[in-house]
Amino acid sequence: MQDGYELLDSGEFQKLERFGSVVLSRPCAQAVWRQSLSKADWQRATAAFFRDGGNQWRGRDRLPATWEISVDGMRFQLSSTDFGHLGIFPEQRDQWRRIRELCAAYPKAHQRAPRVLNLFAYSGGSTLAAAHAGAEVCHVDASKGMVDWARKNAALNGLEDRPVRWIVDDVTKFLERELRRSRSYDLVILDPPSYGRGAKGEVFKIENDLPPLLALIGQLMSSQPLGVLLSCHTPELTQTSLHHLLLQEFGSKGGALESGEMLLRGGKDVLPVPSGSFCWWVRA
Ligand SMILES: C[S@@+](CC[C@H](N)C(=O)[O-])C[C@H]1O[C@@H](n2cnc3c(N)ncnc32)[C@H](O)[C@@H]1O
Repeated sequence: MQDGYELLDSGEFQKLERFGSVVLSRPCAQAVWRQSLSKADWQRATAAFFRDGGNQWRGRDRLPATWEISVDGMRFQLSSTDFGHLGIFPEQRDQWRRIRELCAAYPKAHQRAPRVLNLFAYSGGSTLAAAHAGAEVCHVDASKGMVDWARKNAALNGLEDRPVRWIVDDVTKFLERELRRSRSYDLVILDPPSYGRGAKGEVFKIENDLPPLLALIGQLMSSQPLGVLLSCHTPELTQTSLHHLLLQEFGSKGGALESGEMLLRGGKDVLPVPSGSFCWWVRA
């Protein structure tokens, strides 16, 4: 049985991806170019997701209720959701690697484990990467179902006994509470949605709510900060926008900013698919 993730093809507003032994065709607004594989190759997909005429799957009955894959040595449980998500954003792979490297190097410089805050934490890829590298992690998401899913992923990786706090809460409310408790973090990771809802229905709109959220994060940084990783899939917030936001909030504290596009990748002849932007502020 094949393990792992691979982009197989893209084009004509669709992407074809392999998740373990499951091949899926799903919508992809960025893929304005031609498909490279034949129609017959695309039609061999195990299942397909469409947004035209409302969200719907074709062939969902051919998918296992849940299945597991490994990405960069981390195990993820996958499942088809009604929104076409599967419980993993493989375009974050490079960031997970960087989180692992930075967290693993931190104790040599500071003689203690780094404290990591993962916001909008979804199924926990960044939490797993940090916990794997020995960090203390606080994992925050408004959805109890997603926090349960992330805990399952931690258990799949043998990380259930690591120091991870699992929090179901609205991100802004939680940060305000942490400030009152005088908590601080060395690395803050956030992957906000364009629009989201907190645990009690609080509305999050990225264009209004991200700048004040970053100001709160600025107040929660420790005196020995490792940095901040901001990523998102909101088309209007390009890597330059993320750079400007982090520059204004953290630029005066020194360190370096690095931004880029997140990419879905496959074999060497497969065109990578741009899937959101990221920016790091690295202080260390
Ligand atoms: C990882 S983010 C967005 C992922 C990706 N960037 C995208 O745009 O599709 C999605 C996660 O944020 C969580 N979320 C949304 N609004 C939230 C809020 N106000 N407080 C905490 N978590 C929230 C959701 O439950 C979900 O797990």
